[in-house]
Amino acid sequence: MSEVATAKFKPRVFSGIQPSGGLTLGNYLGAIKKFVAMQEQGIETVYCIVDMHAITVWQDPAALQRQTRELAAGYLAAGLDPAKSILFNQSQVSAHVELGWVFNCVARMGWMNRMTQWKDKTSGKDAEKASLGLFAYPSLMAADILLYHATHVPVGEDQKQHVELTRDIAAKFNHDYGVEFFPITEPVIEGAATRVMSLRDGTRKMSKSDPSDASRINLTDDADTIAQKIRKAKTDAEPLPETAEGLDARPEAKNLVNIYAALADTSVAAVLGDFAGQGFGAFKPKLADLAVASLSPISTEMSRLMQEPAEIDRILGLGADRADAIARPVMDRTYEIVGMVRSRR
Ligand code: AMP
Ligand code: TRP
Repeated sequence: MSEVATAKFKPRVFSGIQPSGGLTLGNYLGAIKKFVAMQEQGIETVYCIVDMHAITVWQDPAALQRQTRELAAGYLAAGLDPAKSILFNQSQVSAHVELGWVFNCVARMGWMNRMTQWKDKTSGKDAEKASLGLFAYPSLMAADILLYHATHVPVGEDQKQHVELTRDIAAKFNHDYGVEFFPITEPVIEGAATRVMSLRDGTRKMSKSDPSDASRINLTDDADTIAQKIRKAKTDAEPLPETAEGLDARPEAKNLVNIYAALADTSVAAVLGDFAGQGFGAFKPKLADLAVASLSPISTEMSRLMQEPAEIDRILGLGADRADAIARPVMDRTYEIVGMVRSRR
């Protein structure tokens, strides 16, 4: 298969988050914090609220609307600047579903069947009840990315396989049609917090869909709630070790140290340099202070922005216009490559 080096393409970052619930510390450290950092590197950055992905499982319409605006508020409050980045919601740029359909015809059932997220969500007889959209989900995600010829996609660890599938779809499309049209996109999965774990169980991912609110920190939690959740987080009785390897068999301890390092923009080694030999009685209050100092300004700004839904909608609308200006020519060229007659005036 012909591999199209991303070098042939202008660097462009794309990523997305589903408006399927509130934002967690996992979303912030695994995704949004990196989105903002990449925006500041002067690369072209495109960030999407993937509402079409959200409806692959049932969403109450009023809740979906509120969560879409809340996610936009979260992006903005965390430092996303609509003058520097394109910020929009997916359903306002129809080329996403158009390219998604073309990719449904490129991707193979076997590829989709191997997606671990699909398998996790549909174990046993749940598969019969899952929507067809949930099965096709990764193909729409590939469309999101490739519509912008994105070269880099910052995501958390759980999305790695989906980005690899995106590469497979790009390569197969290029090969089948004999073109070098879509780039082979690189995932960007870096730093200490690529997989933030539940505060109640260090073997499970922190998730907005976990039934236990104590398992996660929400970006909308107030300072007392954040501090209390960290104080009650599951840990062990050992002091912190000298080296990162010393955390290997201690998932809960490792998670809290990773969170500290990511919030403080430092390394796990540096955190252990400061705290080795100390117990959680000493470490947790420091982590709580750091988390409150980092997250409180974001949650305050989010609440303020949520009072101005019309302003949020205006920003999303302008972002969608800018996104469409990139996406539409890519979609038109895709139709040409595939052999669709395009004769409307
Ligand atoms: P989602 O909320 O599933 O749409 O995820 C949006 C982004 O947040 C993706 O890049 C995920 O990989 C990332 N993410 C979600 N949960 C976590 C977590 N617990 N740790 C790290 N990254 C996460
Ligand atoms: N599947 C991603 C998630 O649940 C969300 C997503 C959709 C995405 N399209 C994307 C992420 C494109 C990065 C790029 O986290």
